[in-house]
Amino acid sequence: MLTETTTGREIKICCATFYQSDMVRALLGDVFHPGGLALTHRLGDVIELGPADRVLDAACGRGQSAVYLAESFGCHVTGLDYGSENIAAAEAHAAAKGVDCLTDFRQGDAEGLPFDDGLFDAVVSECSFCTFPDKTSAATEMARVLKPGGRLGLTDMTVSGSLPDDIQNLLTWVACVAGAGAPEDYVSILRKAGLTNFTIEDQQDALLEMVTNARRKLLGIELTAALGKLNLGNLNIDEGKQLARQAVQLIEAGRVGYTLIAARKMEREF
Ligand SMILES: C[S@@+](CC[C@H](N)C(=O)[O-])C[C@H]1O[C@@H](n2cnc3c(N)ncnc32)[C@H](O)[C@@H]1O
Repeated sequence: MLTETTTGREIKICCATFYQSDMVRALLGDVFHPGGLALTHRLGDVIELGPADRVLDAACGRGQSAVYLAESFGCHVTGLDYGSENIAAAEAHAAAKGVDCLTDFRQGDAEGLPFDDGLFDAVVSECSFCTFPDKTSAATEMARVLKPGGRLGLTDMTVSGSLPDDIQNLLTWVACVAGAGAPEDYVSILRKAGLTNFTIEDQQDALLEMVTNARRKLLGIELTAALGKLNLGNLNIDEGKQLARQAVQLIEAGRVGYTLIAARKMEREF
């Protein structure tokens, strides 16, 4: 029988494996969040990043945002991800862009960060909070590694109300986002972890655009496979197309969204 801990660990392994797969890269490229690097820039602006800042990107994927933030804002960015292949790709990307002196990457768990208290001026995390099985631990850890007054910037999948079971299962299977909650749920968890001064922005259009692009790419993949130029293995394209269709409907109905949340760590311990 699975224990709570085993289940949580399995979810993280499943998520890291999924986001290291060729299929995800074929659909999303190397940036695994809605809004791409334009939304990453917006996040950097909202939390007022600058060259003096030491920043943590918690669940950095292939390091695209970490490298972009270092290049654009001149800050030092440490990227952490559960997937070791993602970390290797992030290091290679930073070296190729010539910003390896402003970045470093390490494999690790956002629910148990391998960093000292108060090390970072800012923490960012994009499209990842929804995947963490233990959000309270992740929020507590992000707050712990921030300096007093440090800034937190998240962008993430959000849902309003509960989704039908079949869609919830499909979302779990397809993108590890079964743990998405309402923006106010995230704020409540972060507030309890010691964050305050919240800014919230609706970024639903970014999610709609990402799903629309993925839908287009699924059609391209189907065509390439039909021409015998691609082996789809056990991937079920029809299921993928059905999910994308349902996702568009849910986004348009306002039931699934994408939200930017920024906050500050309280100046004094409470
Ligand atoms: C949707 S992707 C987002 C990646 C990146 N932030 C981006 O926007 O491109 C989610 C990422 O979370 C990572 N991840 C999942 N659980 C994690 C955990 N507990 N600790 C660290 N990384 C985790 C996965 O490996 C994956 O790279």
